[in-house]
Amino acid sequence: MVETFYTVSSCPVSVALVTDTHDWPAAPVLESLEKRQPELILIAGDFLYAAPPRVPGRLKMQESGNAAALLRDCASVAPTYVSIGNHDWMLNDLDLELISSLGVTLLDNRFVSVDINGQALCIGGLSSSKFTAYRHWRQSQQVSFLYPEPDRTVWAHRPEPETQWLDTFEQQPGFRILLCHHPEYVPRCLSNRAIDLIVSGHAHGGQWRYYSPIRRQWQGLYAPGQGLFPKLTGGIRGNHVISRGLSNNTLIPRLNNPPELVYIESNTLKQSNRISR
Ligand SMILES: [Fe+2]
Repeated sequence: MVETFYTVSSCPVSVALVTDTHDWPAAPVLESLEKRQPELILIAGDFLYAAPPRVPGRLKMQESGNAAALLRDCASVAPTYVSIGNHDWMLNDLDLELISSLGVTLLDNRFVSVDINGQALCIGGLSSSKFTAYRHWRQSQQVSFLYPEPDRTVWAHRPEPETQWLDTFEQQPGFRILLCHHPEYVPRCLSNRAIDLIVSGHAHGGQWRYYSPIRRQWQGLYAPGQGLFPKLTGGIRGNHVISRGLSNNTLIPRLNNPPELVYIESNTLKQSNRISR
């Protein structure tokens, strides 16, 4: 695992960005967080691996022990906010209650205004459209099962995320942060929004990373939702920070692409830290 540090000049607090842990053991992540002591932890989706529980009758969050431990342990380090990724699509209302009981704030297409160390923040979470489409399908069908059969295709084809609530979000006072698991949503539906910082994951850095002599930079080979030679796989573009993620959920290994834990600070914070240390 590597730690990557980005500067967002206006960011009033120090932030850790945790994405795509996919229920993998997260001891190195916790070790880093305890050492760095960020003021705010953002878990931007895919804390689970997308499959129904192996044991019938158990909740997905009961079975996903590593994910539950990650959320609980992050909350013990700093205020922790969680949004929902595509791999978390099968979560039901009982799972969502369990997540909230772990001490984190779950942001499912909603925002909260908070004060962190004297700084006014408004933090929102845009849920993956795969999750919201499945939820609507469950409600429309009035299903009784907790989780779908593995071979049952239940969600709409390439639905759009539910962005109406952002109209209110972007009018809130304070530094506005949006957790948005899918980086490809940003050019599609967020580029004209008044948001100070957007954080994403999902692309896993493009899985295989190679150096492009033409662009003179490292880039990814493939990302879901973007296809071959994707543009949004990691790094910082203006107010958009993309983590390359912390685990792998495919049979294809990551190449030139170690798991990544991202930290975001402002120049002001760095200088004040330097003085106080
Ligand atoms: Fe994802």
